[in-house]
Amino acid sequence: MKERKKLYEGKAKIVYAGEHPDELILHFKDDTSAFDGEKVAQLEHKGEINNAFNAYIMEYLSKAGVPTHFLRRHGPRETVVQRLDMIPVECVIRNRAAGSLCRRLGIAEGQVLEPPILEFFLKNDSLHDPLINRSHIRTFHWASDSEVEAMTRWTQEVNGLLSELFARAQLILVDFKLEFGRFQGQLRLGDEFSPDGCRLWDASSMEKMDKDRFRRDLGGVVEAYGEVARRLGVPMLP
Ligand code: TMP
Ligand code: ASP
Repeated sequence: MKERKKLYEGKAKIVYAGEHPDELILHFKDDTSAFDGEKVAQLEHKGEINNAFNAYIMEYLSKAGVPTHFLRRHGPRETVVQRLDMIPVECVIRNRAAGSLCRRLGIAEGQVLEPPILEFFLKNDSLHDPLINRSHIRTFHWASDSEVEAMTRWTQEVNGLLSELFARAQLILVDFKLEFGRFQGQLRLGDEFSPDGCRLWDASSMEKMDKDRFRRDLGGVVEAYGEVARRLGVPMLP
């Protein structure tokens, strides 16, 4: 096989150059990190589950009209995507209070947030992904005003679509993070959607089914991801 060019290695994925200059290959690793890379572990099969999970969600969103970078799955751990010029802003939307919102504002975990809260964070591990607002994004030219409008609208749209999808699987979509980029100047959803970047609670027991199991040492991390995938009907084979 031809040697592939590794372009970037992140905490949970490796990015390789694709066969076409406009394409990239995302390789999903078993590595799991939390707290901006402070806590790291290998969780067997997580890469395969997240690859399958991400493909299922990205295809679902594309069919619903959301512009995404997803092109096709490429084996059990890899996916081919369009090469985006990434915007260094993480868009987080919250339907219930959890995580950093509770710590920052003293809100009780689980409080329903109506309307949902949308926040922006700067993607920068060494600064611990600080909370930012539109004014920072504008002044530092991280994205244009119209891109911020579009990222806001698409994040809300994805929230509506996925809250409903997960509700049908008896899961509450508590919050999630999206990243966007530009393809030929057009905004597209990039990165991944998996239980590594969202919070999901069982709708009856309120049990955590996402990366909080790893962050809080609750155990059964991959089992929970697998259960979420099973409930959604995610096909596991390549
Ligand atoms: P937070 O409560 O830590 O701010 O995270 C909110 C949601 O966004 C949670 O589902 C985790 C996700 N997230 C990431 O996956 N990566 C990040 O760097 C950030 C800031 C949030
Ligand atoms: N900040 C995210 C988390 O705590 C991602 C990471 O740091 O690895 O899950």
